[in-house]
Amino acid sequence: MIEPLTPVIGVESVPEGEAEQIAEIAELMVKLLEQRYRDGKPFLRGVHPKAHGCARATFTVNADIRDELRVGVFASPGASYEAVVRFSNAAALVGPDIQDMVKDGVKTRQNGSRGMGLKVQGLPYASLATDEPGTQDFLMVNFPVFPFANVSDYLALTRAQLTFEPDNAGVFSAFGAQLAKNGAAVRVKRALEISAAIQQTATIDPLATEYFGAAPFLFGPDRVMKFAVRPTPPAAETSLPDSVDDHYLRAALAKRLREADVAFDFAVQVRAPSLEAEVEDVTKAWDSVAYQSVATIAIPTQDIDAPDLASRCESLFFTPWHSLPEHRPVGGINRLRLAVYRASVDRRRRLPELH
Ligand code: HEM
Repeated sequence: MIEPLTPVIGVESVPEGEAEQIAEIAELMVKLLEQRYRDGKPFLRGVHPKAHGCARATFTVNADIRDELRVGVFASPGASYEAVVRFSNAAALVGPDIQDMVKDGVKTRQNGSRGMGLKVQGLPYASLATDEPGTQDFLMVNFPVFPFANVSDYLALTRAQLTFEPDNAGVFSAFGAQLAKNGAAVRVKRALEISAAIQQTATIDPLATEYFGAAPFLFGPDRVMKFAVRPTPPAAETSLPDSVDDHYLRAALAKRLREADVAFDFAVQVRAPSLEAEVEDVTKAWDSVAYQSVATIAIPTQDIDAPDLASRCESLFFTPWHSLPEHRPVGGINRLRLAVYRASVDRRRRLPELH
C-alpha cells in the first residue's frame, strides 16, 4: 500500500513522539477487535461495522466548475465516473440505530454518528495507494467536526476503550481523567460538546442527511480543502416518531432506493494553508470559508439487497488514503488513519482458521 509519508511542508506540523503513538493505537485497535469478536464470530470493521446498505452511483464533475477548482478528481469538467457508496453507523459495535439513555428516570434519545463512504473508481489519474489504483475514497460523517482533536487525545480514548468498552460512560470518564492529567481539560469539554451535539442530530433516513469529511486534505500543491455532501434537492423537514425500529435506517434506505433516484451535491471549502486552517485540530470548523459545488453523486433506483451488491458491501475497504496525491490527507488524525484503517481491514480480512 503506502509507506508513512514525510509531512507536507508548510501544511503539517508533526508533534514529537506521534509515530510511536500511532503504532500503539493501531496495535490497540487490533486488540479491541479481538476482544469484541471472540468465539469464532466474524471480525467486522473497527468503527462503522453496521452497514445500512451499499448502492451503485455515478460521480460527475460539474460541467461549469470554476477554473481554480479544476484540481485532482475535479480536473475534467463534465467527466463521469462509476462509484459506490456505503451508509453506516459509526458505533464500534453493531446495535440498534437509536439507543435511548435513561438517567434519573429521564429518557434521552441518542442518535449516534452516521457515516457515508464514497468510492470513486476508474479515475484516469495516478493514486497514492497501490492496492486500488485510480480510486478516490471520500469518507464522511453527519457532523462537520470530529470530537477528538489529535493523535495524543485519540490514544487516551483508545486506551480507555480497551479497559471499559462497552461502558461508554466509563470510557469517557477515563479519557477525561487522562486529558486533565495531560493539561488538556479544555479539549475534554470540547469532545463532550461535539459528542452531545452528534447524539442530538436526528437522521430521518441516510439519503436525507448532510455528510462532512471533517478532516483536512490537500487541494493541489498549495491549498487545503474540506468537503461535504448535501441531498439535492434539499430534504424536506420532518422529524422522527417517538419510537423507531432498531434497523429503521436500513429500511428507509432500501425503501427510498426502490422508489426513486436520488442525488447529492458534492461541495468543497478551499483555502490557503495557515494557522487559522487548524490542520492539526479536527475539532475546529472552517465556518468562515464558503462551500463551492464541484460535483454530483447520482444514485439510481436499485435494490440494495441484491445479492451481488450486498455481499460486496461488507468486503469493500474505504480509507482516506485511497487518494490522488492532489487530495492527500493531512493533519494528525489523518496521519493516524493511514495505519489504523490498514490494521482494521487486515484483521477483518484474515481467514477464519487463522483467527
Ligand atoms: C475525520 C474524521 C473521520 C471520519 C469522517 C471517518 C469516517 C469513516 C467512515 C465513513 C467509515 C466507514 C467506511 C466504510 O463504509 O467502510 C470509517 C471507517 C473506519 N474508521 Fe473512520 N473516520 C474518521 C476518523 C477516524 C479515526 C480518528 C479513526 C481511528 C484512528 C478511524 C478509524 C476507522 C476504522 C478502523 C474504520 C474501518 C476500517 C475498515 O476496516 O474498513 N476513523 N471512518
